Amino acid sequence: MMKKAAVVFGSDTGITEEITHDIVDHIDFFDLDIQEVSQVDISYFSKFNFFILGLSTWYDGDLQSDWEDFFEDFKTINFTGKTVAIYGLGDQYGYHEYFIDGVGILAKVILQNGGKIVGNWPTKGYDFTQSKALINEKLFYGLALDEDNEPEYTATRIKKWTTQLKNEFQIYIKDEKKYSHSSNRI
Ligand SMILES: Cc1cc2nc3c(=O)[nH]c(=O)nc-3n(C[C@H](O)[C@H](O)[C@H](O)COP(=O)(O)O)c2cc1C
Repeated sequence: MMKKAAVVFGSDTGITEEITHDIVDHIDFFDLDIQEVSQVDISYFSKFNFFILGLSTWYDGDLQSDWEDFFEDFKTINFTGKTVAIYGLGDQYGYHEYFIDGVGILAKVILQNGGKIVGNWPTKGYDFTQSKALINEKLFYGLALDEDNEPEYTATRIKKWTTQLKNEFQIYIKDEKKYSHSSNRI
């Protein structure tokens, strides 16, 4: 039986929402539940061990507004035993000092709260000056998409990233039983 995973996204003007549908279309290795972050609460996160989170970045490095509203709660989620992939929408030229910062903001909470992150993505080919989404100069925590400047690359990036996710999630799907889940909250 296919494992369940949750896709949780937030989108101000609908771009991330559209991209979410494209990403979901490429994922045939999970039974997916897709939700807007404005529709979920902390208890929702206790129902899954696998997540794909999507968001855009706004106003000089801020989380997308629904993620912003949920963030205080998000910080209390225990991610032990959970594996998460993140995709972020941004504008690398217009906001080059804050490119997909939201990806980094979520990633740091997930790691701090015991989770694992898959789907790290190369920075090669992007042109920006700073980002909170950087693990190091060569890698983002998750997929970077720029519909403002490079929509022509999006389809290829999604295809490559979802193939990568299939392989990387597999390791944690196999190991799932090793984890114990004591509580949902930290
Ligand atoms: C006022 C404004 C502020 C923005 N701030 C950032 C930012 O700080 N970093 C970034 O990478 N992109 C930034 N963007 C670009 C958006 O993240 C991008 O357009 C995204 O595709 C919007 O997706 P959404 O409609 O799903 O929210 C900004 C866009 C606008 C209009």
